[in-house]
Amino acid sequence: MTVTPSEAHTGLGIRVSDVREQVLIDDQGRKVVTMGDMEFPPRKVWIRTFGCQMNYHDTERILSHLQNLNFSQTQELAEADMVLFNTCAVRDLANSKFYGKLAEMKQVKKNKGGLIIGVGGCVAQTEGKDLLKRYKHLDFAFGPDVIDCINDMVYRTYAGDSKFAINSWDRSDNFSIETKITHGMPQAFINIIKGCDKYCSYCIVPYTRGKEKSRKMQEIVTDVKKLVEYQGIQEITLLGQNVNSYGHDNNETLASLLGELDQIQGLELIRYTTSHPYDVSDELIAAHGSLKKLSKHLHLPVQSGSNSVLERMLREYTVEHYMGIVDKLKRAQPEIVLTTDIIVGFVNETDEEFQDTMKLLDVAQFDFTYSYVYSPRNNTRSAKMVDHLSDEVRSERLQYLQKYQLDIQKRLRQSIVGERFLMLVEGHGDQGGVKKWRGRTSCNRIVHFLPETPTTDYQWHWVDVLVTSATALSCQGKILLDHGRRPTRS
Ligand code: SAH
Ligand code: SF4
Ligand code: F3S
Repeated sequence: MTVTPSEAHTGLGIRVSDVREQVLIDDQGRKVVTMGDMEFPPRKVWIRTFGCQMNYHDTERILSHLQNLNFSQTQELAEADMVLFNTCAVRDLANSKFYGKLAEMKQVKKNKGGLIIGVGGCVAQTEGKDLLKRYKHLDFAFGPDVIDCINDMVYRTYAGDSKFAINSWDRSDNFSIETKITHGMPQAFINIIKGCDKYCSYCIVPYTRGKEKSRKMQEIVTDVKKLVEYQGIQEITLLGQNVNSYGHDNNETLASLLGELDQIQGLELIRYTTSHPYDVSDELIAAHGSLKKLSKHLHLPVQSGSNSVLERMLREYTVEHYMGIVDKLKRAQPEIVLTTDIIVGFVNETDEEFQDTMKLLDVAQFDFTYSYVYSPRNNTRSAKMVDHLSDEVRSERLQYLQKYQLDIQKRLRQSIVGERFLMLVEGHGDQGGVKKWRGRTSCNRIVHFLPETPTTDYQWHWVDVLVTSATALSCQGKILLDHGRRPTRS
């Protein structure tokens, strides 16, 4: 019998016990997992994720830990032994979707004895105890900073000690983790900074994700080198709620980290998200001009085109400052494509303030915008302001803005018809009964194309495509060159 001690756990959270999982391979080659005095037979976990890329990445990490406890993921709820929700609290809509799903689980649990239900993520951080009181079928709740303890929590639940909520913060000086990937794709998310110290007046994130803490640059570089060398990773997305404030605590910067990563042989493309305009340094702008592997796309949330609204939002910049950054970025990297987030109908937004946002859309020419109506969140400063704006006005403004932006996007996309792009093919789909492959360019545009023969498999190939037509949301293209699994550089 071989004994493989499970890997060391560092990082995102504290450990609640010293009991570790042991992976044993029995004489017939089957995987048997024990933890403490308990045996963990093969089980299935069904997990639903809401929210940002950080949350999706946390889900990957949770699944990778659970693998050590003999869990595999299922898409079929009926097969599940454990149901997990990784929740988002940023707007009311995500919240209410989650509450509806959690309520439905009561019946699912009735039909399947022994089903375990856990809730993680940003809602669990602030409301975990309350959730346990209100939903008797819920077994445990855990915040984002303790996801590395997921196996302890599952152990504790199977040991019969459930109904607990853990929302403690990681107290260690440094944020130190190793990226965990089980998906086998050449793309990976890399968490480089957690938390947010900005406290924009509308935003719940600083309360759900805690204080900013960065990983050390050297740790990240070693981590990425390993992923490239041993797991075939070619494209990375550096993640943080406020990713370009990276390194403040260690006297390091995102620009210098990008410079180091750019030199890793075998790594092809580097993206990062999400940036705050206040922390876009000249050094970072210069990196967009000089680094070969850096994506030609930047997501830079502006939130509003009105200085008075930005002030009420506590965003710490003006529209003029924002547009100054955009101009400098375009000068450093003429091919850069910008996308943004906009909150429509912030507390007492006047028609004039809203019109200022509309003007900004014209000037900035964003390639895509994520726009939302303002949603008051518990504990935030703006939730305490007296608000006279009605929900009807909010949604009217949102619809107007979204329609206007789609026209801008349509014009922008049509201007790239005839251009050639190198891109990594991410998958295929059915478009009106026709199989089309799809990839994402360095500038973050999705291009669909017909295969040269119906059976050609382009999955994770690098291809050159010519954009032949475009709508506001996507482009159609023609394949010019199939590079295979690695881009061939001329
Ligand atoms: N850290 C990122 C994004 C955080 S949340 C940043 O600073 O840009 C993602 C987006 O949700 C925000 O950019 C904002 O547009 C939106 N958002 C956050 N709180 C919101 C609220 N209370 N109501 C409506 N939209 C909100
Ligand atoms: Fe929220 Fe502002 Fe932090 Fe972004 S920067 S996560 S909007 S508080
Ligand atoms: Fe939502 Fe939490 Fe991300 S509130 S947007 S899941 S950080």
